[in-house]
Amino acid sequence: MPNSSKTKPALIDPAAFNQTVLTWYDQHGRKHLPWQQHISPYRVWVSEIMLQQTQVTTVIPYFERFMQRFPTIADLAAATQDEVLHHWTGLGYYARGRNLHKCAQVICTEHAGDFPKSVDALIQLPGIGRSTAGAIASISMNIEAPILDGNVKRVLTRFYAIEGWPGTSTVEKNLWEIATTLTPNHHHREYTQAMMDLGATLCTRSKPACGICPLLPQCQGHKTGKPTQFPNSKPKKEKPSKETVLVMVKNPKGEWLLQQRPQQGIWGGLWSFPEVASVDDALTWVEQVLNGKSEHIETLATFRHTFSHYHLYITPVAIHLASLPAAVREAADHWYNPMQPSALGLAAPVKTLLNTLQKDAP
Ligand code: ADE
Repeated sequence: MPNSSKTKPALIDPAAFNQTVLTWYDQHGRKHLPWQQHISPYRVWVSEIMLQQTQVTTVIPYFERFMQRFPTIADLAAATQDEVLHHWTGLGYYARGRNLHKCAQVICTEHAGDFPKSVDALIQLPGIGRSTAGAIASISMNIEAPILDGNVKRVLTRFYAIEGWPGTSTVEKNLWEIATTLTPNHHHREYTQAMMDLGATLCTRSKPACGICPLLPQCQGHKTGKPTQFPNSKPKKEKPSKETVLVMVKNPKGEWLLQQRPQQGIWGGLWSFPEVASVDDALTWVEQVLNGKSEHIETLATFRHTFSHYHLYITPVAIHLASLPAAVREAADHWYNPMQPSALGLAAPVKTLLNTLQKDAP
C-alpha cells in the first residue's frame, strides 16, 4: 500500500538504511569528479550551484574554466558581473550566476571571505537554499546535515512509496523529516554524495536499475510494481472555460470583415472576426454598428480553442450581406479577400475558420 503524504511511513532502522547506502557508495559511488578534488567550501558551493539544473557532464568543463579564472572567492567577488556571466554563458538559468557573484561579495564583505559554518547561516546567503546549504556543509565542512535535492526526493518517495506531489509543503515537510532521520552521524560527506549518486545513477527518473539497487529488498515503490509512479507528478489543474461569439461578415465581393485586436489581451495585435457576447447580438451588431443588411445568417458549430490558462468555446455566426456597406468604418477594419490574402497576422482560430469556409465555398 502506498503511503499517503499525511501518514508517516514506518522507517526501517535508519542505521541499516544509511549503512547500506554507504557500503554501496564505497564500491560504486563517484569519487573523481573535479569538485571532489581539493575539496573546499568555495569549490563545492560553485559546483552545487552549477549542478542545480544541469547534468554533471555539462558542468565539468564550465567548472574547470570557472576555477581557472576565479580560483578563490575573492577573485570572484572582485570580478565584474559581465565577466562572471560570460563564464556562465551556455549553462542557462542566469540568475544562478548573478546570485553566485552577489553571494561571493557578501561573503567577502560580511564574513571576511570565509563561508559561515552552519546550515542556518548558509541559508541566509543569496542563492543558497536548504538542500544546497546541507550539501555544502556536509561535503566541504563535514557537518551532519541532510539534503533533499531532486535525486534524494526520487529515492525517498520511491523507497517509501510516498503519495503526493513533492512540491506540496506537506509532502516536502514529510520528506525533510525522513531525510533528517536517515542521515548518519558519521561519514557526512560520503553519505550526501552517496544519496545523490544513487538517485543519479540507479534510481533514475524513467528507467531505474532496480535489479542492482542495494535498497531493493525494502523498497516499497518497487513492491507496487511501478516504482516510476514516484515521485507523483504535479496535479494538472482543470482549465476554466469561457465562451465567445465571432461574427463572420461576408460582403457580396466574397470578402470577410476582420478587425485588429487591441495590443493587450488575447490575440493582441492580430486580426480577428469581430467579437460579440451572444448569437443574438451578432445580427444586431451587423445592423446597428456596421449599418449592413443581412441576406443570409447561419450559426456554425461551436468549437474549442485552448489557451495556456483557459479553454475558449467559440461559436461563429456567418452573416452574408445583401450589399456592400457604405464605407470602411475605421482603420482597424479590413475586408479580407481569401483569394488574394493580405499579409496579416491572423488569430489561429480565424485562420482555421477562413480555410474551412473557403473549402466549403460554392
Ligand atoms: N548533483 C548535485 N550535486 C552533485 C554532486 N555533488 N555530485 C554529483 N551530482 C550532483
